[in-house]
Amino acid sequence: MEDNKIRPLLKPASGREFEGDSERKTAAYFKVREDLSTESTDKLPAEVGFEERSIQSFGRRRGRSLTDTQEQLLTTLLPSLSVDVKNMPKAKEYCLEIGFGNGCHLANIAKRSADNFYIGCEPYINGVVHLLNIIKCDSINNIAIYTEDARDLLSTMEDDFLSKVYLLFPDPWPKAKHHKRRLVTHETLALFAKKLKKNAELIIATDHLDYASWIYEFLKDNEFFELKKTFEECQSEPDNWIKTKYQQKAEALGIKPYFFIAKNQK
Ligand SMILES: C[S@@+](CC[C@H](N)C(=O)[O-])C[C@H]1O[C@@H](n2cnc3c(N)ncnc32)[C@H](O)[C@@H]1O
Repeated sequence: MEDNKIRPLLKPASGREFEGDSERKTAAYFKVREDLSTESTDKLPAEVGFEERSIQSFGRRRGRSLTDTQEQLLTTLLPSLSVDVKNMPKAKEYCLEIGFGNGCHLANIAKRSADNFYIGCEPYINGVVHLLNIIKCDSINNIAIYTEDARDLLSTMEDDFLSKVYLLFPDPWPKAKHHKRRLVTHETLALFAKKLKKNAELIIATDHLDYASWIYEFLKDNEFFELKKTFEECQSEPDNWIKTKYQQKAEALGIKPYFFIAKNQK
């Protein structure tokens, strides 16, 4: 693949380090994340000749085997929460969370803003089941779930439709040969910009320093989004923020994540 659209590795400016970084622990943490990411059983679309946009950005689709109750949630509740882009329920705002993991962040923002409608994308089935369980226990009725690549869903959506896109702790794909799997590329930013309303927000967070630099450079230098903060300023957590599972894991290791909030200015 030609990498002129996917930027070369952007080295963090010298002196940029995670606060309280314990080198050994952090290296072990990212090694585990890298191993989990590459545990994919699917053949890479790129290897069978698909176009660049189809390059798989996620690793495992399943983890621990599911209990009968969890399987039941998948067969009974999930179909009723599927996304129908042509027939969305009436709502004040429509927001998308890409890669919701265990769904706690998504469930909490949905409960907090009952007038809005939330679409969550997550191909990791164990995460989907976790969210289904929360939806059932807390009787949440403003979430729809898509279990495939978020980019496929986005391309079927109306333009100028979304008020927020959350991309929280996306897989960092740390090895240079895997950078093409990163979700933040010129193409995905263009897609987000098209589907977001003017002045709507793209919210990206990461705990990975190299990916943080990569994201910052993309957001600072593109025609769609405006990011007003300096790289260092992006280390402060937004107000009323709900922490995700990966954020909590990183913070437990003393890693301070980055939060990029960019305005769509197309
Ligand atoms: C590192 S996890 C972070 C999960 C969660 N956001 C958190 O912070 O706890 C990244 C998640 O993104 C999902 N993912 C990766 N590529 C995706 C895509 N193209 N569409 C939707 N989800 C994706 C993965 O399956 C994985 O669960």
